[in-house]
Amino acid sequence: MKENQQWSSKLGFILAAAGSAIGLGAIWKFPYIAGVSGGGAFFFIFLLFTLLLGLPLLLAEFLIGRSTQKDAIESYKSIAPSSKWHSIGYLGMITCFILLSFYSVIGGWIILYLVKTIRGDLDGLSQQEYGELFGATISDPVLSIGAHLIFMIITIVVVAMGVQKGIERTSKFMMPALFILFLVLIFRSVTLSGAMEGVQFLFYPDFSKLTSETILAALGQSFFTLSVGVSVMVTYSSYLPKDSNLSQSAISIVGMNIMIVVLAGLAIFPAVFSFGLEPNAGPVLLFNVLPTVFNQMTFGMVFFVAFLLLFLFASLTSAFSMLEIIVSVLSKGDTKARTKWSWIIGLIIFAVGVPSALSFGIWSEVSIFNKTIFDAADYLVSNILMPVGALLISIFVPMKMKKSHLYDELTKGNALSKRLFNVWYFLMKYVAPIAIFLVLLDVLGVWKR
Ligand code: PHE
Repeated sequence: MKENQQWSSKLGFILAAAGSAIGLGAIWKFPYIAGVSGGGAFFFIFLLFTLLLGLPLLLAEFLIGRSTQKDAIESYKSIAPSSKWHSIGYLGMITCFILLSFYSVIGGWIILYLVKTIRGDLDGLSQQEYGELFGATISDPVLSIGAHLIFMIITIVVVAMGVQKGIERTSKFMMPALFILFLVLIFRSVTLSGAMEGVQFLFYPDFSKLTSETILAALGQSFFTLSVGVSVMVTYSSYLPKDSNLSQSAISIVGMNIMIVVLAGLAIFPAVFSFGLEPNAGPVLLFNVLPTVFNQMTFGMVFFVAFLLLFLFASLTSAFSMLEIIVSVLSKGDTKARTKWSWIIGLIIFAVGVPSALSFGIWSEVSIFNKTIFDAADYLVSNILMPVGALLISIFVPMKMKKSHLYDELTKGNALSKRLFNVWYFLMKYVAPIAIFLVLLDVLGVWKR
């Protein structure tokens, strides 16, 4: 049976695209990477990349998707027939495949902590006990693999149903709720004693802390949080009606994303410094710090449950988009095939993610290029595959799509001035490819003597 894939409203699309963008990247990954990369300077570069490269690329993916109304492979084929450009779509699918395999491990951690908090296991522990409890939880192979499986199954079931139905309705109140809860949390965090040191760590840029690796990490982080470079946004915008306002959607998604990044940073770093912890704790940072902050609030654990629920939801809506891009290509609009492929691909992704889950416990000594399995998978996705995907898209769009056609597409349902269009086109054609290329070369050590 042919499915009729289309967002039911303009808001539906923005919520789904924002749902894909806002997830572990902004809430969990940003604080931890900023923490290991020196704070303020990293934040500053991240912001710069998000506005100058991420935003234009997001708009470019929207244009490819909406103008062709096809999936991640066919869209490139219809713009550049008989060429190899549609490999960008395959690269995106492979990237999302690997990404989801470890993303779901962290999603599983949220489920584990949700259950533990509801059972009362987290009531009134000390900061150190929270750290120990979390360490013990994620190093337990049965717990971490079980939770990873549950996270994957939820993702599979929703994608098998068709993403629209699942996401549109729930996102409408979940996103604002997440926002409000963050504000409550920040209020508690910044009023802790010694909190200002954390605010300063996050916002005061000490550029001497930047290295080529941290610049690449900021680049990868800005693409990661916006879900660009992997054709997820191509796929989502292909379900859009022709007259939707693309630039406005892109700007609001980037705006929301930056806001969540700032909120997450403000919730975490003041507490880190107030409790005398190290900001460079790595992937466990959020889970080690936040329980203590909530614990110092009245009804803290009730709020923590609410937070974890919203956090889980935000991660799931991102996970849906990763599986969706793969399934939409394989099922080619057929409903039965959609169910079948969702399960097949989803379960393989689960299996591929198992070593990542174990790398926080019994396989923590196994290393690939001096990194744990989890870190290596994340590095491959965030710092190599996503920037390369973004680079290819930034070459593809100005080369294969006519400028006048792009202008017509962008101004549909939209009063975008010619000048703004030119700014976007310049960023796409020159700034994005050159900047990404230079950052990649820099990491390869080309400039070093
Ligand atoms: N943007 C998502 C997040 O921040 C991750 C993601 C990347 C989702 C690429 C889809 C594609 O959590």
